[in-house]
Amino acid sequence: MERTYLMVKPDGVQRNLVGEIVSRFENKGFQLVGAKLLTVSREMAETHYAEHKERPFFGELVDFITSGPVFAMVWEGENVISIARQMMGATNPKDALPGTIRGDYAAKLSMNVIHGSDSPESAAREIGIFFKEEELNNYEKTI
Ligand code: CMP
Repeated sequence: MERTYLMVKPDGVQRNLVGEIVSRFENKGFQLVGAKLLTVSREMAETHYAEHKERPFFGELVDFITSGPVFAMVWEGENVISIARQMMGATNPKDALPGTIRGDYAAKLSMNVIHGSDSPESAAREIGIFFKEEELNNYEKTI
């Protein structure tokens, strides 16, 4: 079953959006297999955002993601990577449609509330940065 890495960024945590965001993915029918609140180290942030290393905003990006706790999650389900990205909305909140997470809650590109993996390769890499294998739960519904 496909998995993705989703992360409520420091702005989302500080604006008390964790519950709302978790609810959206639960209500959609995806299964939460791992979750934790953590403060990202600069080393983890630089690894996570390695593809943006040469961009002029890289320093700002690392400063922001390490500025306060994030809520890191792994979700599982059919096509969860692409569906989660649809639910998040466009990266730039000015292009994110109402009804999406960024469309409803974000106004700035640098503080766009949530991160989500964009491919199976990114998902595997990002899950590996933030979670140990034993922190992920494989379970079948029993009720
Ligand atoms: P995310 O999906 O977490 O991946 C990279 C992030 O870089 C992106 O969300 C935006 O928050 C951020 N970003 C992209 N472009 C810019 C920019 N021009 N200035 C500041 N931040 C940016």
